[in-house]
Amino acid sequence: MFDSSTRTVVIVGAQWGDEGKGKLVDVLAERAHWVVRYQGGANAGHTVHIGDKSFVLHQIPSGILHPGVRCAIGNGVVLDPDTLFTEIDELIADGVDVQGRLYVSDRAHLVLPYHKLIDSLSAASREIGTTGRGIGPAYEDKIARRGVRVLDLRHSERLRSLVEKGVSHANAVLTAFGVSERASVDSTMSLLERLAPRLLPITEDVGLVIHRAITSGANVLLEGAQGSLLDVDHGTYPFVTSSSTTSGGAAIGVGIAPTAIHAALGIVKAYTTRVGNGPLPTELGEEDGERMRTLGNEFGATTGRPRRCGWFDGVVVRYAARVNGLTGLAVTKLDVLDTFEKVALCTGYKVGDRLHTEFPWDLADLEGAEPQYEWMDGWQTSTADARSVSDLPGAARKYLDRIESIVETPIAYVSVGTRRDQIISV
Ligand code: GDP
Ligand code: IMO
Ligand code: MG
Repeated sequence: MFDSSTRTVVIVGAQWGDEGKGKLVDVLAERAHWVVRYQGGANAGHTVHIGDKSFVLHQIPSGILHPGVRCAIGNGVVLDPDTLFTEIDELIADGVDVQGRLYVSDRAHLVLPYHKLIDSLSAASREIGTTGRGIGPAYEDKIARRGVRVLDLRHSERLRSLVEKGVSHANAVLTAFGVSERASVDSTMSLLERLAPRLLPITEDVGLVIHRAITSGANVLLEGAQGSLLDVDHGTYPFVTSSSTTSGGAAIGVGIAPTAIHAALGIVKAYTTRVGNGPLPTELGEEDGERMRTLGNEFGATTGRPRRCGWFDGVVVRYAARVNGLTGLAVTKLDVLDTFEKVALCTGYKVGDRLHTEFPWDLADLEGAEPQYEWMDGWQTSTADARSVSDLPGAARKYLDRIESIVETPIAYVSVGTRRDQIISV
């Protein structure tokens, strides 16, 4: 992945999230100096298996599991300080040395208890099926210019006045919901006063630090969260998250120039999943969906919700390749399809009598979309031990070749299991 002209690489989900970004970041971090999160927050759940241990990272970049790799949380992330320190303490308890390796942007906005309260009580959040982590309300406060940033923890009077503003707005929202719960200035302040002494020492001007790392020749991974179809501009709005998940968001969310990014690796499953509500054109019916969910262990890493499952959607991934400028694809979970007699790839949607080969925008079109499938023979052999393309059965190679041609992007990696070594570099 890294060479003399490719040193800053963005890793982006090219479907609806949970594509296996954590696994790929962990594999690629072996040769990285820095791993930086650029958007989202604790709505993410990035799973990494090492030996018989499994880690689920929500706030901290997945590079933390490689000793010596430095990690940063960029300004574009909404940071839940409570979750952050729970996660840090769990890592330390598991023997991971976090000290001196994790930095947080002083400009990242904080997710506070009242953001989570609003998210959990809002009918709109329920309709979207959010993770309830306060992500939408925290980004709303950021855009409305009443957010609380990490650097505000340095100034106690300013902090109190910002928290008062935030709480007063949150309480107006809760009143409008007609619920009895209320946000509290005192409890928010006491949480922040308790966490500030741990948070302030790890704050940094992350944009500057990463700029300096890049100019001194470091290898940098920018770890996206969620997926391209959950991007607030480019996803299936309003069934999206509240940040720019696509590669364009990486420059803004780290604080570096777009021209500093050399490559964009799109992570995709060999099929499609979605957790939460909104269109999923290739969604399988109950029985086949259940089979894929069981084989792929498709349950949310953050909320435990069952993921909706469907065949690989070439229209979606080709679209994601365009909006992200993908230079390569990593196809994960190929092994999950090992037992299927036939596998299908969606190459277009029929809406009424019109065939869409480019992703349609109108939700009404998406909801009525009839996927057009190409059926291929399954390989019905285990791929779990394959370590090179030539180890893969012919039918699996054909399937991957077809993905490559539909998406018009070369496949750089194929993942055939959860373990670090279960990866094929193409
Ligand atoms: P992320 O949010 O994109 O990091 O993905 P998640 O961690 O939420 O979900 C991906 C799940 O698939 C995790 O449980 C991974 O351990 C698992 N996984 C990743 N790659 C593979 C693979 O190639 N094969 C199988 N069977 N599981 C995989
Ligand atoms: P990772 O990084 C899958 C989904 C939620 C919901 C919508 C909005 O692990 O791939 P939010 O809480 O962000 O306001 O919810 O986005 N969602 C994810 N789905 N993977 C994720 O993260 C997700 N983060 C949010 O289910 O539909
Ligand atoms: Mg996930």
